[in-house]
Amino acid sequence: MESVRNALPVAAVSTRIAQADDAYLVHALYAATPGYFDIISIPIPTLEEVRTEIAAAERDERRKIELVIERERPPFAQADACFDAASGGWVVAYLDYKIDYPEPGDATVNLLLVHGALQDRGIGRLAVRDLERRLRGSVQRVLASIYGRNPGARRFWEGLGYTFAIDARPILDWYAKALT
Ligand SMILES: CC(C)(COP(=O)(O)OP(=O)(O)OC[C@H]1O[C@@H](n2cnc3c(N)ncnc32)[C@H](O)[C@@H]1OP(=O)(O)O)[C@@H](O)C(=O)NCCC(=O)NCCS
Repeated sequence: MESVRNALPVAAVSTRIAQADDAYLVHALYAATPGYFDIISIPIPTLEEVRTEIAAAERDERRKIELVIERERPPFAQADACFDAASGGWVVAYLDYKIDYPEPGDATVNLLLVHGALQDRGIGRLAVRDLERRLRGSVQRVLASIYGRNPGARRFWEGLGYTFAIDARPILDWYAKALT
C-alpha cells in the first residue's frame, strides 16, 4: 500500500462522535489497515458489521466511538475515500473507548487505529493526548487494551507513559496510566 510514513508530522487532530451512517468511513479506515486484523487474526469487519458496532455504541451511554479528524488533506492519492463532509476534514483514525470501565473512574481504550498509510506521523500520540485532556477531571485512570501479539502497540502506549497493568493473556494485555 502507498504509505507516507516519515512524511511531515501532523500538527493537530480533532474528533467527532461516529454515527451509524459514518460506517463507510470507519470501514475505509479498516480496509486501509489490514495489518492490524492480521495481528488479531480476524477478517476485516464488513460494512454491515461496522454499522452494527457503531449502533451498539450509540445505545451504550458509556461507550464512545469517535472519528479522529485531520484538517489538512492527507498526502496520498486515495485520500478522497476518507473525506468527511460533516467536519470538513479527513478521517485519519478511529477511537473506541468506554467510560467507567472496568471500574468507576476508569476509561478504557478498546481500540485506537490509525489509517495504515498514515502511521508514524504523530496522529496516534495526538489522539491520546487529546483524549486525556478531555477526560481529565472526570476520569482518574486511562487503560488501553491490547489484543493479540502486538509489540508495536505496547511500545506506543509505553511511550505515552502507560505501564503494564493487567495480564489477560493470551487474549489481551492492559496498560494503564493515572490522570493527574
Ligand atoms: C499503534 C498506533 C495507534 C500508533 O499510532 P501512530 O500514529 O502510528 O503513532 P505515532 O506516530 O503517534 O507514534 C508515537 C510514538 O509511538 C511510537 N510507535 C508507534 N507505533 C510503533 C510501533 N509499531 N513500534 C514501535 N514504536 C511505535 C513512535 O515511534 C512514536 O515514538 P516517539 O515519540 O519516540 O517517536 C498505530 O500504529 C495503529 O493504529 N496500529 C494498528 C492498531 C493498533 O495496534 N492499535 C493499538 C491497540 S489499541
